[in-house]
Amino acid sequence: MPQRKRKLSFPKKFLWGTATSSHQIEGGNENNWTEWEQEGTIKDGSVSGRACNSWELYKEDIRLAKELNNNAYRFSIEWSRVEPVEGKFDKAALARYRDMVKECRKNGIEPFVTLCHWTQPLWFRDAGGWLNKRSPLLFQRYVERVAKELGHDVKFWVTLNEPLIYSYNSYLSGKWPPQKKKLATFLKVQKNLVQAHKLAYFTLHDFGPCEVGIAKNNQCFEPYLNSFFNRAIVAAVARYWNHSFLRRIENTMDYVGINYYFHNRVYVSWGGYVVMNENKVTNDLGWEIYPKGLYRVLTDVKRYEKPVYILENGLADARDTRRADFIRDHLRYVHKAIKDGVDVRGYFHWSLLDNFEWSEGFEPRFGLYEVDYETFERKARKSAKVYAGIAKNNSV
Ligand code: FCB
Repeated sequence: MPQRKRKLSFPKKFLWGTATSSHQIEGGNENNWTEWEQEGTIKDGSVSGRACNSWELYKEDIRLAKELNNNAYRFSIEWSRVEPVEGKFDKAALARYRDMVKECRKNGIEPFVTLCHWTQPLWFRDAGGWLNKRSPLLFQRYVERVAKELGHDVKFWVTLNEPLIYSYNSYLSGKWPPQKKKLATFLKVQKNLVQAHKLAYFTLHDFGPCEVGIAKNNQCFEPYLNSFFNRAIVAAVARYWNHSFLRRIENTMDYVGINYYFHNRVYVSWGGYVVMNENKVTNDLGWEIYPKGLYRVLTDVKRYEKPVYILENGLADARDTRRADFIRDHLRYVHKAIKDGVDVRGYFHWSLLDNFEWSEGFEPRFGLYEVDYETFERKARKSAKVYAGIAKNNSV
């Protein structure tokens, strides 16, 4: 008989949430991605289109979060809706976001509001996007307006989502719009993002007490061979990927926000490098499931001596056969990290509901709730009940 695992309780006031982003769920957006999608760039041939229709169904979505017994919800504000024309702000859009925040509060849910989850207004893109040296100031103006409207009701802000994933895919690997492949642009974009974050940090704090950070995609790196060469290279890569951005904003972040998805056991040779993960259990996208990596990523950010929020962690699992175990196994390692002194204060599962997974389209199913893209009906997967139980009992 398999051994029953011991029940592990989380600290009082631990935040249990899920995460989404505007472009992936709202529908009806007009931004740099919606244009790019029209070029047939999405793997399954789709376009974000009406997505999950959450722009209309946001109250239902928040009700679903409540059904999960969650006390937090991370969503993003779509810059292109709020400022569709440079310097002109859309009052109705701002009112809608204000209502989302209110709706969260009404349901006892702490909103974590992301200000830029990758997509950008067309005018911003046309002005050079994040390569424009004025981009941090343009972002600050938008942030200031949002803070004015929502500041009194929002305590937790996430200025930027995964700046390295974004700059890597859009400016180095050439996978995402604007599909540039140049080291110099990759570095310049990061420089502007650092600056944008800092300006946003001060702007948000000007409006009252709040906690500001970013959602940083950190990964678990290990050398495949225990040679000096392998270890040295992998350590350098890990330092760069996991810490270069965080170090640069260290004095302007109130917490460390972590998105965890990847484990890379790297084999390095003079000819290049390969990621070699053996005994792979993977999700539907072929990403290895490696819960222990979350523990390593968490203990690795202890050095910042700040509260830590896991702002994303999840998997594509259309048949929902791995999600419940995935959650439990990752949370056991979160618990261990807390026991070992990491001040983890919240966990947000990606995602509340199925959504538009960027260049992969609608095929990957990341949701605790399944979405029917014809009718927009949401249906709880079995794993949703498991997560609801964990949140309710504050234990796994
Ligand atoms: C993260 C993104 C999020 C979602 C998940 C699967 O890198 O922040 O929007 O696409 O991956």
